[in-house]
Amino acid sequence: MFELNDSALLKTKLFINGEWVESDSGESFPVHSPATNQILATVANAGKSETRYAINCANNAMQLWQQTTAKHRANLLKKWFDLVTEHTEDLSKILTLEQGKPILEARAEVTYGAAYIEWFAEEAKRMYGDVIPSNHPNQRTLTLKQPVGVVAAITPWNFPIAMITRKVAPALAAGCAVVIKPAEATPLCALALAELASRAGLPKGLLSVVVGTNAAEIGQELSTNSIVKKLSFTGSTPVGKLLLKATADTVKKVSMELGGNAPFIVFEDTDIELAVEAAMASKFRNAGQTCVCANRFIVHSSIAQEFTEQLVAKVKGLKIGNGIEQDVTIGPLINKNAVNNMQVLVDDALAANATLEIGGTPLEQEGNYYPPTVLSSVTPEMRVFKEEIFGPIAPILTFDTEEQAISLANATDAGLASYIFTQCQRKIWRVSEKLENGIVGVNEGIISSEVAPFGGVKTSGLGREGSKYGLDDYTEIKYICIGNIEE
Ligand code: SIN
Repeated sequence: MFELNDSALLKTKLFINGEWVESDSGESFPVHSPATNQILATVANAGKSETRYAINCANNAMQLWQQTTAKHRANLLKKWFDLVTEHTEDLSKILTLEQGKPILEARAEVTYGAAYIEWFAEEAKRMYGDVIPSNHPNQRTLTLKQPVGVVAAITPWNFPIAMITRKVAPALAAGCAVVIKPAEATPLCALALAELASRAGLPKGLLSVVVGTNAAEIGQELSTNSIVKKLSFTGSTPVGKLLLKATADTVKKVSMELGGNAPFIVFEDTDIELAVEAAMASKFRNAGQTCVCANRFIVHSSIAQEFTEQLVAKVKGLKIGNGIEQDVTIGPLINKNAVNNMQVLVDDALAANATLEIGGTPLEQEGNYYPPTVLSSVTPEMRVFKEEIFGPIAPILTFDTEEQAISLANATDAGLASYIFTQCQRKIWRVSEKLENGIVGVNEGIISSEVAPFGGVKTSGLGREGSKYGLDDYTEIKYICIGNIEE
């Protein structure tokens, strides 16, 4: 166990219907620190029955909630936002301990996560409908937006605060109730957020958190229960596909924020220093465990050597270690499997004649550490090009023409983020429009913001989170035709 300023934020039971409860089986499971592999806490282990109960409670709670005014829902969300902000230090500590990211990044995530609550508190009041000019003089044509119904939110371990608020805040703002299933590696952040929502005065049942190791069982209930009208998932593409299939029978609305394979194109007319700074931020944030992080550095052959040298020099300046130490800039990976996967990818590239510029072997120390690694002379046949790396490996390959760069960038099923670096305005437009991605960062390595739509094309998913569009995913449009208005 560990100390917090407010020790009541460390919760180890399930949060269902406004109460902290044990699992029906009485079983629990350990939460490990990725930095030390020590047990941080033991948490109640839920399954199907608790999930079903949480769904039923959500349905009951929603009946009144959907009739409240938008202003009422906005005020309650604002209270939640204030409490999350007030407890930034404790939430950051929980985040770093269970997830591993450096404490500075954890604080940034709490701020980023809270921003979604504030944003959707404001957007709640802008859930406008339309009055549409009718084809008939004695008819009026209207639309209104209504809450979609009970929402299931399945959230990942890499951003255990922000990926919850990005789903829960718009759902509550729209008038829905939510059952959250957080990743089993990071349940403590989700439970602390639920505690703060409860302190903000959220009515019981509107937000439940079901944590458990049997993800398939909980996921099956959430994706097949007919009361659930919307499933929002952030995670891997294979799991997203399974969930999509499972929701088909009950025809649920879905949002899928799945894997990426972001190209990071550096043109010859780029400010190389700027591109390298952005590459560091994009690639090594959260030790490369983000869906939008640069996966493939596609660099013009005339500047590839300069770019590589500058990148390697910056990588040497990173301090790897336990994220709870203030000066650490890159933390551990989530578990040993992730470390092993990095080695498999590096070995595959080296066997096919990639050049190891730095890194490339796991660190001999306690915890799940893999060193930041740069590979050059990478080719499209290598696994680091074809797969989402989800770790601190930066593969560099070169191109000679704009067409080649675009074709390399689009040579993947994934289509979440992409990045381009150039000083040429025409090229910015031309290339941005041709990239098959939901997000394009231009001369910028960090593109996430509550004000902007986050989401992918191709197998990277469906729907958009955040921004003015993020509320729509939790609403249904009702068309009302008022006829015979003249006597
Ligand atoms: C993700 O990796 O899924 C989200 C990253 C972000 O919001 O920046």
